[in-house]
Amino acid sequence: MPNEIHPEIYPPSPEVMAAAYIKSHDEMIHKASEDPEGFWADRAREFEWFKPWDKVLDDSNKPFFKWFVGGRTNIAYNCLDRHVKTWRRNKLALIWEGEKGEVRTFSYHALNREVCKFSNVLRSMGVKKGDRVTIYMGRVPELPIAMLACAKVGAVHSVVYGGFSVEALHGRIDDSQSNVVITCDGSWMNGKIVELKNIVDEALKRCATIEHVIVVKRTGQQVQMESGRDYWYDDLMGLPVARALAGGNRSETEVMDAEDPLFLLYTSGTTGKPKAILHTHGGYMVGVATTLQWAFDLKEEDRWWCTADPGWITGHSYIVYGPMLLGATSFMYEGAPTFPYPNRWWSMIEKYGINVFYTAPTAIRGLMRFGEAWPNRHDLSALRLLGTVGEPINPEAWRWYHRVIGKGKCPIIDTWWQTETGMFMITPLPATPLKPGSATKPFPGIIADIYDEAGKPVAPGEEGFLVLKNPWPAMMRTIYNDPDRYVQQYWSKYPGVYFTGDSARKDADGYIWVIGRVDDVIKVSGYRLGTAEVESALVSHPAVAEAAAIGLHHEIKGHAIHTYVMLKAGYEPSEALAEELKAHVGHEMGPIAKPEKITFVKQLPKTRSGKIMRRVLKARAQGLPEGDLTTLEE
Ligand code: WTA
Repeated sequence: MPNEIHPEIYPPSPEVMAAAYIKSHDEMIHKASEDPEGFWADRAREFEWFKPWDKVLDDSNKPFFKWFVGGRTNIAYNCLDRHVKTWRRNKLALIWEGEKGEVRTFSYHALNREVCKFSNVLRSMGVKKGDRVTIYMGRVPELPIAMLACAKVGAVHSVVYGGFSVEALHGRIDDSQSNVVITCDGSWMNGKIVELKNIVDEALKRCATIEHVIVVKRTGQQVQMESGRDYWYDDLMGLPVARALAGGNRSETEVMDAEDPLFLLYTSGTTGKPKAILHTHGGYMVGVATTLQWAFDLKEEDRWWCTADPGWITGHSYIVYGPMLLGATSFMYEGAPTFPYPNRWWSMIEKYGINVFYTAPTAIRGLMRFGEAWPNRHDLSALRLLGTVGEPINPEAWRWYHRVIGKGKCPIIDTWWQTETGMFMITPLPATPLKPGSATKPFPGIIADIYDEAGKPVAPGEEGFLVLKNPWPAMMRTIYNDPDRYVQQYWSKYPGVYFTGDSARKDADGYIWVIGRVDDVIKVSGYRLGTAEVESALVSHPAVAEAAAIGLHHEIKGHAIHTYVMLKAGYEPSEALAEELKAHVGHEMGPIAKPEKITFVKQLPKTRSGKIMRRVLKARAQGLPEGDLTTLEE
């Protein structure tokens, strides 16, 4: 165990503790465990409900749990309408900086106005409760506006990360059967334009369901606008209909059942087909707001910055919904962390007086390598707490983050969670003594354990499978259109227990140390990708007969994708072909999925039933023993 060899414990910061919401992690865990339903009901009472719930938890049809059954609310109402009735109407909800340095700010009043107008636009296009809307945009304020407008009218948003490309977008539009896509002409990233609208045009050649495309003008380059299908966002927002439906800048908020779907978010699993994780209005609202408030001790006067992209769960829960539910001020930055220089993030922390900052280990490692002089040029003294997410943080990066960015006074909140969990599950609170590299203990109300193959808890220090033993309000409800896969993937390895797909250890103090994925999911720079998706992108190239992808350790990215390719007869391996294949994956899936390396092989190790044995490839690549090969084909 890392900490037993190097006992290194960071006690809670006295300044943070002086005003912290929760004074003892263990006591709160104990309190929540005595009456979990009462615990979550208390949290839910912080929000406005059009009708109170009849039952906190309905577990009569496991694992299809329901929360706040019979309750009626709308998360967008709690993000906006609730605040504009109070003094918070004048508080900044969102501060945005573009990559080129433009600044836009929205008070709660202004954000509500834009969301109302856009929800009227959506309604006028026929979007109604339950319809799916795909959002494929850069990191611009119109992205949260679009999400909140969908929630307001009861539509189900499906945000596709703006770094994905044609095939990834096409698959997600098709599976969700969306009628509307909201996009941008392009987005800025590292001084270059990502051609979002062109990618949409190409994807739509393969999709049948889309009737309308709404385009936010961001980069201003020439794009094709198909008449009758494509509309400029600004033109629509200027129409009388945007303002008129409910009278001057207002719009009715749809009354939703607590269990009505709020969004789909596609995430990678073990097959080539991404899973549409479904989250709902009521439970998700209670879960994300409570976790953000308690883990990051977010106060009325704080300025919060989560550097994630809204296209991933971290952005959904902790750029958009969590902060808005708490009436906080959320900062959002459009571009790359090193544009134009490696001090960009630190300069914005100084400029905007960010107090609480949440990022990923890969970003910390990436910025660390430019040296301390870059952050040291800036006054970072407003920072109170720091956070990380996405993969285990190596203690070296943890210590650098703590010492150089937090000046030794900010706790590092290492939050373990998943697209599926919706909210933090294992995380320190400010009161928790910290050990670098450990996400510490479960959030109050959550019961986590580590099982061996047979479902027995392992002894302290031993590696096993991380499981969650009781339901929580922000949990996924199902895989959209595939409830069987939901049951099989998450609830079948150990009946009645949620299987996370991660391996972990618990130390003698009960601290959890997450090790990594045990399935075919790869975390590249904290982004979740499936080996099977990369493989199917490769196989769609005419030269490729078969392909296998694995994740191997990478200094900055955590893991990088390495691929093994068998060519079709008539094709010869060459450097040029390897480059062409990398570019092909980039074009189909997006730049983050581009393989680090392509190795041409004559054969792939397979089981007798024809399944590629990726673990054998991985062991070979790392020079490790290949393990049990009894199922390997001759
Ligand atoms: C990994 C991201 C260690 C883990 C919110 C999980 C982490 C997967 C941590 C989910 C952490 C996330 N320490 N590992 N603090 N946070 N992970 O769905 O393997 O993109 O299963 O959600 O990321 O990735 P996802």
